[in-house]
Amino acid sequence: MTKLSAEFLTLHGRRSSLVLELAPGEAPLWRHWGARLPDGIDPGAALRDTRALPSFALDQDLPLTVAPVFGTGWFGQSALLAHREGRDFAQGWTGCTVEWTAPGRALTLHLTDAVARLRLDLSIALDADSDVLVLRSTLHNDGDTALDLQWLAAGTLPLPGRCDAVRSFAGQHVHEFLPQTDPLTRSLWRKESRRGRTSHDCFPGAVVTTPGATAQTGRVFGAHLAWSGNHQQTIEWLHDGQYQWQFGEWLAPGEGRLAPGASLTTPELVASCSDEGLDGLATNFHAELRRRLDWPGGAMRPRPVHLNTWEGVYFDVHPGPVKEMATAAAALGIERFVLDDGWFHGRHHDRAALGDWWPDAHKFPDGLSGLIAHVNALGMEFGLWVEPEMVSPDSELFRAHPDWALQIAGRPLLTARNQLVLDIARPEASDYLFEKIAALLAAHPIRYLKWDLNRDLAPAGLGDGRAGYRAQVLAAYALMARLRAAFPEVEIESCSGGGGRIDFGVLRHAHRVWTSDCIDALSRVEMQRGFLQFFPPEIMGAHVGTAPAHTTGRTQAMAFRAAVALAGHFGVELDPRQLSTEDADELRGWIALHKRLRDRLHHGRVWRGEAGDGLHWQFHADADTADGVLIVLRTRPSDHRQPPALRLPMLDVAARYRVRELRPAGSPRREGRHHTAPFFDAQDSAEGVTLAGAWLAEVGLPMLRAPAETAFIARIERV
Ligand code: DGJ
Repeated sequence: MTKLSAEFLTLHGRRSSLVLELAPGEAPLWRHWGARLPDGIDPGAALRDTRALPSFALDQDLPLTVAPVFGTGWFGQSALLAHREGRDFAQGWTGCTVEWTAPGRALTLHLTDAVARLRLDLSIALDADSDVLVLRSTLHNDGDTALDLQWLAAGTLPLPGRCDAVRSFAGQHVHEFLPQTDPLTRSLWRKESRRGRTSHDCFPGAVVTTPGATAQTGRVFGAHLAWSGNHQQTIEWLHDGQYQWQFGEWLAPGEGRLAPGASLTTPELVASCSDEGLDGLATNFHAELRRRLDWPGGAMRPRPVHLNTWEGVYFDVHPGPVKEMATAAAALGIERFVLDDGWFHGRHHDRAALGDWWPDAHKFPDGLSGLIAHVNALGMEFGLWVEPEMVSPDSELFRAHPDWALQIAGRPLLTARNQLVLDIARPEASDYLFEKIAALLAAHPIRYLKWDLNRDLAPAGLGDGRAGYRAQVLAAYALMARLRAAFPEVEIESCSGGGGRIDFGVLRHAHRVWTSDCIDALSRVEMQRGFLQFFPPEIMGAHVGTAPAHTTGRTQAMAFRAAVALAGHFGVELDPRQLSTEDADELRGWIALHKRLRDRLHHGRVWRGEAGDGLHWQFHADADTADGVLIVLRTRPSDHRQPPALRLPMLDVAARYRVRELRPAGSPRREGRHHTAPFFDAQDSAEGVTLAGAWLAEVGLPMLRAPAETAFIARIERV
């Protein structure tokens, strides 16, 4: 009798499941990653018993496994590319043992290749609450010769053949999270970044959609590599009609050379799927990141409103004026004052001084104590900018240790923003940085470091001539971890010329990211929307800048600038001494409004929508939408004489909701509007208006005709 059954490994989340099939003498086969299946589900038959061999193919059926490898019958992308002096170029798993690390939720597969003398440990965990899947691979060289590892996927995921598009992010400095949608076809889809950091132009993550998926509905899959260095992802059509999705670190030649007995561990691949569209997927990623963030004191406290000095004074940092800025900032309601670039020895412009991490004696003859005491006396925390991984050729550090810069003998040192990259994998360089930064943190009540990284890595040669991309990322993480261990009360912001280092890897150590150097509110609408696909709002640095905006020259009203920043980790990036009385009053009102709303904005779920006609909305609420804040942004004038109503599909159709407009205290009613109507007056009253959830979800909330670059904000509560 034909034996149809096989042994299966099943992991269940709340709304997703994963099923693998154990196959003797090879890696487990992928059977399912997608919708939640019933407990105890059994595919009913071994996969190969459900497939006939195609013509002119190998006489063995080789379906997609969790770790497909090259050279022994698998013709698709391989999870591993390696050789020993040209030999052992092909791999094949000869054994597999399963270790359940958390029964039903997490396991490690121990795969062996007795011929090539390799071992792969692949850990797979599916979080029961967030439906986030985390995969990570470690390859061990069990041979007695060196192994050259060219590629090791963190994980290989299956995608159903009905997936039809992949949404990723392109971009550049001052335009991060530029959305890009590509159709999935039989051609290989590949994204790679070799800049040595997460990058502005190639975010290490993507979302794959099925036909008809929307922001709130339909099946979607997402994945992200938790890594701040080189990376690669591919999506490849397979001959059984499904796709495989691989992610990993892009290794520079030689970086994967493993001596006998050595091993290499990949970054984590963080993935999830949802049948509630892009927002359902975002909720899963937000939950996972919130679980990972390592807050001082063990829990996030309300995010303090920032004043960051950069665009206010740039390098023109002098204690007197900066103290005046701090005084003006405190009067606005600012809670954390961050002294950006320009404070340290010889730093008067961007052509010198990186590496000399002590206060400039001309600007701060008495050090930073006076300024910090002033800031603290005003009731604000103090934060300080550093860019530890960099060195200026014109610096005392470089003059003393020119060999500490990443470089390749015989090749030119390439500067970017007039700076070089320090080889911080050298213990003496990272010790130097630790000592210098620790001295500042030990001497002063500094509660926050804005940790910048303003260039790509090239040439990234270590002292021995080998490539140092991977070593650099690991050394940066280690330095952050060492400083956090020594000063656990200090939070870190990951900045990289804006958003060049935003990923789950650095966020093991950091607590906020600087989303972009572009603070133009109109530009920020799209960037923040993309950002929120993977990251929660409370870590999204969002500032009110000047008008006109420094990077675009465009001018927006204070209300629009503040409304766009409202949902993030709110801050101000201008010289508050320059504000008119009216602007200062208005900004003070927005800061107070943010403080009133931040507990709602920074917990729970976020729904995002584009209603067309220039309307973008965001709804931040608890999971069952009992209490939420709606932010509607109009980016361009309406094409309609009467703007269409705004549908809020996430609301409970069985409930009724009170809608009350929110405005900063003291701001004029219906500011900037030419016309109004009784509904909007009622909505703007203390009682608000009450409407059926079904009406709001299906027909929509009436929208008042409003000029371009204006916002409407409302509290929406179940009654
Ligand atoms: C780049 C950052 O993105 C800016 O916010 C600012 O900190 C500058 N570096 C300072 O040099």
